Amino acid sequence: MPPEFRIIGFARREKTDDSWRKELREALDQFSRTKPVDDAVWQSFSKNISYCIGDITETAAYEKLEKQLTSFGSEPIRRNLLFYLATLPSQFGQVVEQLHRAGLLHKEGDPGWQRIVVEKPFGHDLKSAHQLNGELTRYAREDQVFRIDHYLGKETVQNILMFRFSNSIFERLWNRDSVDHLQVTVSEKIGVGQRGGYYEEAGALRDMVQNHMLQITSLIAMEPPVSLDAEPIRDEKVKLLKSIRPLEPKDVARQVVRGQYFAGAVDGEPRPGYRQEIKVKPNSNVETYVALKLFIDNWRWSGVPFFLRTGKNLPASASEVRIQFRPTPHVLFAAACGQALDSNALTLRLQPNEGISLRFNGKVPGTTLGVRPVRMHFSYDAEFGAYTPEAYERLLLEAMAGDATLFIRRDEVETAWKIVDSIRNAWNNQSLSNREFYAAGTWGPVAADDLLAQTGHTWHEPVVVP
Ligand code: BG6
Repeated sequence: MPPEFRIIGFARREKTDDSWRKELREALDQFSRTKPVDDAVWQSFSKNISYCIGDITETAAYEKLEKQLTSFGSEPIRRNLLFYLATLPSQFGQVVEQLHRAGLLHKEGDPGWQRIVVEKPFGHDLKSAHQLNGELTRYAREDQVFRIDHYLGKETVQNILMFRFSNSIFERLWNRDSVDHLQVTVSEKIGVGQRGGYYEEAGALRDMVQNHMLQITSLIAMEPPVSLDAEPIRDEKVKLLKSIRPLEPKDVARQVVRGQYFAGAVDGEPRPGYRQEIKVKPNSNVETYVALKLFIDNWRWSGVPFFLRTGKNLPASASEVRIQFRPTPHVLFAAACGQALDSNALTLRLQPNEGISLRFNGKVPGTTLGVRPVRMHFSYDAEFGAYTPEAYERLLLEAMAGDATLFIRRDEVETAWKIVDSIRNAWNNQSLSNREFYAAGTWGPVAADDLLAQTGHTWHEPVVVP
């Protein structure tokens, strides 16, 4: 943090500076990545924290906030402002307008900076996202809006671009000449738990695919940017999203599988079915699992399938990208190994066991000709120690520094919604079929296996080392 800063909590609930600090300290003691919390550091940090009681719908509350900011008697603190909107998205527009009226959002060219940080959901379809973006930018400029996708704050996700563009040996293989297909898996052991109400409105497609899955895909597949500045990187990501082949309803039927979990067990612990979760309709058709086959219609990826899948109540919590290379011609080892010779694969393990593995074939020692897959591993922990900052540490710092690289631009959000809308419209409230259910604790519905079997592929199950 800079030497001079203040953090103001702004909400309706009656609290004092001290009671709020106490609450934060308790949360820190429970959740901090580094425990125990260093008391001396906390004492000097918490002096900068205060609380302002106010209703975000009332103009007077913003005037009070403005006075409090001015009362600190510091030009930079009054001028350079980061507003983190922990509110419903439906309130974003109103909050930004009130900030503007209270003179807290300055105009372009004024000294200092003011930024607005918002979280998903950015709408529930293209139309609502467009409207929301319109509301956010009525009184603020697009470059003042920082939309968070917390996946972009993860070290391993940021490393995708470093890995691709700072090594000469991989990038030249990163195309349709060498790659057979890609698999992007974001699996979670947790069910929807207490979030049934939200999930009924969202479903896995809106909750995970519209944002995290498509973000990972765009970083994996985009072209090199002209520089590492925010706009060139985001330009390339948007270009990639726009190259994803649009899905007509007939394509959705063939290329997209949804699923919903019924009662089962994860690690031996019983789990209720989705329809039995709190605030979920007993006949709900909301998907807790999605698998998709996408094609990217550009020079690099033409004809290469991208398989994406995500789901709740799966056997492992793991996110990874697997690049499966084309098989070798079976001329040399066919007699000894048959068709079973393994294809090379590169796996980027985004979480947990963060690292990268390269799988290739090696001779089994001995007098017979045996070949089997072996692996080379890079592990973050082994190489850099256990220090992996939380995604939010990085994102909040970047927002303060004004670097928008790790935030989602308006056109990115809207392009991603266009893809997701085409799928949702094709589902068109149809009921789930029997093949779309899966028991909690299994790797999703059978239909998802069929999706890969069409082209002779199978899903690679992430291996999690406890
Ligand atoms: C959130 C989703 O954006 O990401 C949750 O709303 C999901 O449903 C979470 O559990 C996964 O994030 P992570 O960092 O635990 O992989």
